[in-house]
This record gives sequence, structure tokens and C-alpha cells, in this order.
Amino acid sequence: MVDRSPEAALEVGTGYFRIIQRSNWKIFMENLNDMMHAVVTHQSSIDASVDQAAALGADAEAPFALQILQGNGMPYSWWKKLGITVYRNGHSMMDGIVSPKSEDPVYLGYVKSLEQARGVEAAERILSINRHNSIVWPSMSLVPSFQQVRVIRPLSVDRTLVEVFNFKLKGAPAEMYRKTLTYSNVVNSPSSLVMPDDLEAYRRVQDGLTSDAGDWVSQHRDFGRDQVSDGAHSHVGTSELPFRNQARAWIEYMTGAA
Ligand SMILES: [Fe+2]
Repeated sequence: MVDRSPEAALEVGTGYFRIIQRSNWKIFMENLNDMMHAVVTHQSSIDASVDQAAALGADAEAPFALQILQGNGMPYSWWKKLGITVYRNGHSMMDGIVSPKSEDPVYLGYVKSLEQARGVEAAERILSINRHNSIVWPSMSLVPSFQQVRVIRPLSVDRTLVEVFNFKLKGAPAEMYRKTLTYSNVVNSPSSLVMPDDLEAYRRVQDGLTSDAGDWVSQHRDFGRDQVSDGAHSHVGTSELPFRNQARAWIEYMTGAA
């Protein structure tokens, strides 16, 4: 994230979102890398954004806010191809869903400022990296491509405070920050078209877990198919590998086995 700034420095924006979730903090952490849920959980905003984009005409590029909403509606064959990499102690990161790359003058001006500061080759290398939710488990999540950091604070067993901070890229055109704010407003604002879907789902998961329905939670999807190198890497984005990785870290912390 720091690399993306022409001055290799970030400045936290004024104002931030604070969201209280009526669910255990681990439910939110698992959801961050869950590539199965978006298509169904966010169906209403996906449908609305597709209709809105169609109304603009086939030749028009959809505004950034609509592109974000439409991104959730990609087919499962597409989500499967996204990379997910997990590391020891619960950490993980996933490939980007929406690319910040654009032909608009603001983005092109930003690229120019990065090239002037770092050189064309380094700028290209930096901008070729596009990551969505990256998890520093158990307390932080970043969206490096859009300069966003979330801090997760457990309040009780069934209440979690999530704070969302936005950062300015020092040395970049001021308008770039608007893109970050648009991203946060569309995805993370308590009144956004996306976040309330997730909050409702988390609460229902919490209710389910506190019922007497069963003692076990399945996290088996694509178990045993992980490709292991320095970290454990799965080529299947819809794998539950990050869930298992977080549960493993939790057991290690709770038993002192880490
Ligand atoms: Fe979601």
C-alpha cells in the first residue's frame, strides 16, 4: 500500500466508519476471504447495478461505483480462478476483484506521478499487484489497491466493532482519494448497498451457532487440495482454506501451541 504512493508515504483521511456487528469477530474475519457468498448475499445490489449500467447504454463505461457492485456478481467459474494465499498464524490475502486501473484522466495522472517518482519499470511492477482483502489475523484487514484498512475489535462474544480507515497516497493527485472514498462508501458504509447484507448474514450465523442444531461447523470445501510452498496456496479461490487456516491459528493461540 505504501509502495503505491509516489512519496512512499500515506496520510490517514479524516473521518472513518464505525460499525457494530451483532456477531462474533471470527465470523467477519472468515467472510473477508469467502468467495462463495457474494453472488447470493449481494444479489439485490448486483441486479440493480446491472440494470443501471444497461440504462447508460452499451457503449458507456459504467461509473466506478457500479463496477464495484457488478464485481460481486461474477460467476463462480471466475471466483474459482482468483488466487488465495494463506500463511501461518491465520494471515491470508486474495487477488483483487475490481482493478483500480482505468483510462480516466485522474488515474492516468496518478500513474504519471508514480512513474516520475519511481521510474516506469518500478511503477509498472507496483501497479501490477492488485489485492483485495488481505488479513493480518486476528485484528486487521487491508484492501491495498484502494488504500483501506479495517481494524477489528471484539466487544463481547456476540458484538464486534469494525473501524474503517481510508488513506491518501502522498504525492498522488488529490482526486485519487475520491476513488478510495467511493470504494468505502459503496462497500463498507453502514448505509451502503453491500454491508447491510453481510451484517444480516453474520447475525443469522451467530443465531445458528448459539442454537442446539449441532456441535460441528463444516469447513471442508477443497480440503486436501491446497498447494503448499512458502505459504499454503490454493488455486481455487472458493476454497475454505482461509477458514481452516484461521481456525488452526485460533487453536494454537488458545492451547499455547503457537
Ligand atoms: Fe459480502
